[in-house]
Amino acid sequence: MVHNVKLNVFPAVKGSRVSKYLYSQFIEHIGRCVYPGIWVGKNSRIDNYEGIRKDVVSALKKLKIPVIRWPGGCFADTYHWMDGVGVPEKRPARYNHWWNQPENNAFGTDEFMKFCGLIESKPYLACNLATGSIKESCDWVEYCNSTQKTEITRMRIENGHEEPYNVQFWGIGNENWGCGGNFVPEYYADNYRRFATFIRKTLGEQGRLIACGANVDDLEWNERVLAAMRKRTRLMDYLSIHVYHRRYFWKVQPERGNCNDLDFTEQDYYNMIASVGWMEEFIQSSIGLVTAYSHYGHQIGIILDEWGTWYKNAVNENGMYQQNTLMDAIYTAASFHTFHHCGEKLFMTNMAQAINVLQALILTKGDRMVTTPTYHIFEMFMPHRDNTNIATVVDNNPELILPHGKSTEMLSISSTFNESRGELHVSVVNQSLDTNIEADIDICDGKKWVIVNMRRLTSDDIHDHNTFDEPEKVFPMDLGVDNPVLNRVSFPSKSVTTITFKCTKK
Ligand code: AHR
Repeated sequence: MVHNVKLNVFPAVKGSRVSKYLYSQFIEHIGRCVYPGIWVGKNSRIDNYEGIRKDVVSALKKLKIPVIRWPGGCFADTYHWMDGVGVPEKRPARYNHWWNQPENNAFGTDEFMKFCGLIESKPYLACNLATGSIKESCDWVEYCNSTQKTEITRMRIENGHEEPYNVQFWGIGNENWGCGGNFVPEYYADNYRRFATFIRKTLGEQGRLIACGANVDDLEWNERVLAAMRKRTRLMDYLSIHVYHRRYFWKVQPERGNCNDLDFTEQDYYNMIASVGWMEEFIQSSIGLVTAYSHYGHQIGIILDEWGTWYKNAVNENGMYQQNTLMDAIYTAASFHTFHHCGEKLFMTNMAQAINVLQALILTKGDRMVTTPTYHIFEMFMPHRDNTNIATVVDNNPELILPHGKSTEMLSISSTFNESRGELHVSVVNQSLDTNIEADIDICDGKKWVIVNMRRLTSDDIHDHNTFDEPEKVFPMDLGVDNPVLNRVSFPSKSVTTITFKCTKK
């Protein structure tokens, strides 16, 4: 089936800036994410930079991931950072309570900072509020950021790091409504106020403090935490929220539940598309709440610091490992469009988790590594970062009927303008599994724009994925720009296309 549309892009109708931080990541001591996804040790036969695997560094560095959140997740509220610094042989082995695996603390603060340096990302640390103390968190801030001569900074220097790391982003607790202590919102807010008071003082005004917000659907948690923070909301720079797709499946089809990574039906695929709209609703409601509680010139933003696909077969027993198909890629691209449209109040998003766990960018097996379709979406969307959103209106965008009485537009689109490079970037997701679309693209500003670059990610089957033996099964292709002036482009079913335009004449 082919359908014709007209895509009108309006460079003069400008919206908010697309924060580069929307393209951030999350890693946790869970399954094979850190060991051996990142850390293999100095004596490994796998090529490494003082213990950190080189193949993974080189793949992640290409994505210029703005921020990496660490060490958890649920792990964060059991983690004692002092266990992970100093002479490796003397670091204690601990039981990783949530994920039921041993933790030898080989990868600690200095190794994480080294990893961030290698891939050129900024660190975001999650403090232990539930089982740690205020002193422990303040000492961590001091270890990472202080230039004063103290016992704690002496440790850092002895560990080989004269210069402070200047960590800007600090979370206080993780999912404290659940794995982080099953707190009631007011109790969490009281604790947050105590921690934030002292951490803020140690950190200084440049640091950013992030409070634990809700899991999807639980707006009451957000509201009650914010209400309990009244008159002290200056202690909170961001409220973090979490959204995993599986909750949508549980909600709309409790009897059928979630699907598997490779074993999913057409209905599951369309539910996945519907879950993007449901995620947007929650983000927008959370934005509404923090806006209402922002005052005295202090704006609170939202950070979605865990999101992505989480399939039924990703469980504790297999270290939350799952494959990653073209469906994951389409879900990611459509989600990025949503994030672009949420405005500047949505400051950062961190997909869970970069390597070998949940919606990973990278999978490893021994010394082998493969990049997933999700990795390619991160890479294809890089030109959007820090641009200005511009309006796009589609004439005749077909309605895509989704399960459970939902619907959306078949083409999901984001257009952004990069003033310094004089470029327009348009990304288009055809979310249909069977309808191809032909589009005339009109850049509506009276200037002459031509396509200089066009790339596409698609595959024959929505279940297609990359394996160690077939690493490029789902891989972006460069599309020749035969007739760049014509601006007629086809968007095949289940595809993601990115287009760059340049202006030739005024
Ligand atoms: O990402 C896996 C887990 O999901 C995290 O540890 C936790 O924060 C969330 O429930």
